[in-house]
Amino acid sequence: MKLPELTIDDLTVPVPIVQGGMGVGISLASLSGNVAKEGGIGIISAAQIGFKRADFFDHPIKANLAQIPLELEKARKIAPNGVLGFNIMVATNRYEEYVQAAIEAGADVIISGAGLPLKLPALAQNSKTKIAPVISSAKAAKILLHYWEKHFDLTADFIVVESPAAGGHLGFSYDEAEMPLADFDQELPKILKIVARFRDKYQKSIPVLFAGGVYDQKDILHYLALGCSGVQMASRFVTTKECDAPASFKEAYLNATAEDIQIIKSPVGMPGRAIHNPFTEKIKSGPIPPQHCYQCLSRKHCDRKTIPFCISKSLIDSAAGDAQNGLVFAGSTIARLKEMTTVHELMKELTE
Ligand SMILES: Cc1cc2nc3c(=O)[nH]c(=O)nc-3n(C[C@H](O)[C@H](O)[C@H](O)COP(=O)(O)O)c2cc1C
Repeated sequence: MKLPELTIDDLTVPVPIVQGGMGVGISLASLSGNVAKEGGIGIISAAQIGFKRADFFDHPIKANLAQIPLELEKARKIAPNGVLGFNIMVATNRYEEYVQAAIEAGADVIISGAGLPLKLPALAQNSKTKIAPVISSAKAAKILLHYWEKHFDLTADFIVVESPAAGGHLGFSYDEAEMPLADFDQELPKILKIVARFRDKYQKSIPVLFAGGVYDQKDILHYLALGCSGVQMASRFVTTKECDAPASFKEAYLNATAEDIQIIKSPVGMPGRAIHNPFTEKIKSGPIPPQHCYQCLSRKHCDRKTIPFCISKSLIDSAAGDAQNGLVFAGSTIARLKEMTTVHELMKELTE
């Protein structure tokens, strides 16, 4: 069955699949460019995007901001006519500057989660960049869309609804994070109902994309049948040749069993889904005091004196090739992954 196109205002996306942003260093130019080339939306993660640069250790924010246009340019070379954008987490230290840099670089879309992006419309005003919040409940959708209506008299260009089955940081309590994915289906109509009101008022399509636990075409069709316009998928893209993660990270995905996927307590104050390894064992036995601050999170989200470990260091370690002593974020479906593929083959499998 051919999947329907995705329309976001004046933007037409041939395949209704967004490749979810994966920090640190997992979704950069190569993965996003190749997904966009295949007709989906390719998302570069802005989280510590400059971690490979020589100036990163001493000036991480400067390095990250300088890398944003370079990474997009590289992705555009792969997909000159593709739809490309950034995932920028609300908890990011100096979030506004990252958003500004992405807009100036010419991002088609910005997706913002890990908190409610209350100020995003003000930053994206007068630009062509489409904006989308990541929300995990009807309550969050209601609060955010009302806030944007009241303060900016506008609404979202599209919305990503992220379920507890997603990878990385989760917008749920520790108990909810283990909830069966099917139970979350009950939340979806409530979210769609709230979105419908804003769709009518602003005469915009506001497509809703489902994220978290989407594995195959059957899952995509399920969420389309429930009223979504597409999906955001991340974990399945990790085991592609084009994914920017190192080989050891991809191997950790291929070797993981269902028992290896666990919920950890992130310093960000949210649960996170990751692969069990010596690092996740180590953090159970007490805090690992940070040796250096990579300035990733705003003070509100990180108190250096009390955090159990440095989230940036742990993710940089795995992105740099140490899948044993670094943190390997992953979604709930990865035990089903058995072999490497390519973005082309995966998109073909999902769409044909
Ligand atoms: C390795 C990894 C890193 C991630 N990093 C981020 C991130 O930096 N920001 C974010 O908003 N979501 C992040 N996510 C969540 C994904 O963008 C996506 O919404 C989610 O994983 C979808 O579920 P799936 O992996 O089951 O497809 C990450 C997910 C993974 C697997």
